[in-house]
Amino acid sequence: MTALDAFLAELERLRSDAAAALDSAVPTGVASADAVEAARVEFLGARSGRLKAIQKLLGGVPAADKPAAGRHFNETKAAVAALLAAAQARVAAAATPAAPPLDVTLPGTPVPRGHLHPLTQTIRRVQEIMGRLGFESVDGPEVEDQWHNFEALAIPAEHPARDPLDNFYLAVARGSDPLLLRSQTSTVQIRVMEGRKPPLRIVSLGRVYRPDTADATHYPMFHQVEGLLIEPGTTMAHLKSVLRLFASSFLGGDVHVRFRPSFFPFTEPSVEVDMEWGGRWVEMGGAGMVDPAVLAAVGYDPAEVSGFAFGLGVERIAARRYGVADIRDFFRNDVRFLSQF
Ligand code: FA5
Repeated sequence: MTALDAFLAELERLRSDAAAALDSAVPTGVASADAVEAARVEFLGARSGRLKAIQKLLGGVPAADKPAAGRHFNETKAAVAALLAAAQARVAAAATPAAPPLDVTLPGTPVPRGHLHPLTQTIRRVQEIMGRLGFESVDGPEVEDQWHNFEALAIPAEHPARDPLDNFYLAVARGSDPLLLRSQTSTVQIRVMEGRKPPLRIVSLGRVYRPDTADATHYPMFHQVEGLLIEPGTTMAHLKSVLRLFASSFLGGDVHVRFRPSFFPFTEPSVEVDMEWGGRWVEMGGAGMVDPAVLAAVGYDPAEVSGFAFGLGVERIAARRYGVADIRDFFRNDVRFLSQF
């Protein structure tokens, strides 16, 4: 082996040892900072580094081979210096982390949790209770025509309930059949009966609109729960049982249901429904046996089918359940109020 070959072999060994020690696979971190510094001293150390030792061998290389030997020496020195710089950069990057280390033992940052509006909770609860009594939940449109809001419900053209001062008629639809925001959910009774044959047990909860002045028990937009049952042999006793079962499930405890004679064009006989709970009677809505004229309007034979219907104010039953004195609080959107439910 010539002196040049031996010299080049030394350089090559140095380069591969340095690569192994400073390779990018070498872990970075506090511990490896010392390892990188130790590698620097071993390979490039000014006094006793291995490169320094190899430089001394250069003297033994014949003059003719010296330029080549010198070039290889410089290349190797630059390559090892580059490996060292890269390793030092990795150590520095690891030593100054972007974010502070995660302490999993610290308490977490609480995330505020929302919940459903008390009226939405009430609607879902009513649907669930009525579902257990076999009543299917259905929806109807909030913009209605005269037929579904009035005529099919036996409310003729001259009836005061159709007065423009008592309804939100839509200006866009002035014509022979002006549309309006429905004033009651009884519209859904008609829509369901028009599309289906008895027996029927449905419940429909949704918004209704009346130009009422807002006070503790009234709001111009409110919700109703409409129930309709059409089955052979239905009587007022069934109506009362269903309402009592609903009331005791919803309010809990011992609830009394009272019927007071009343009038609705679409039921006969008609009643106001009061509920007593916690020593107080409260009017919850209207009800009655579906009027034969309504059954005929949807194409049923009144001689064959009968049933009952009821319509309760959702705000009123929610206020009763939650002990709320003024239903306007449900719509003020004050989180301090709403977060109590
Ligand atoms: C009706 O709307 C009938 N459709 C109920 C009905 C259905 C009778 C089926 C027979 C058969 P009434 O207008 O009384 O009835 O309203 C029913 C309930 O809605 C009231 O008892 C009350 O609880 C509630 N309600 C009425 N107006 C308002 C209002 N402005 N704000 C809040 N709740 C109201």
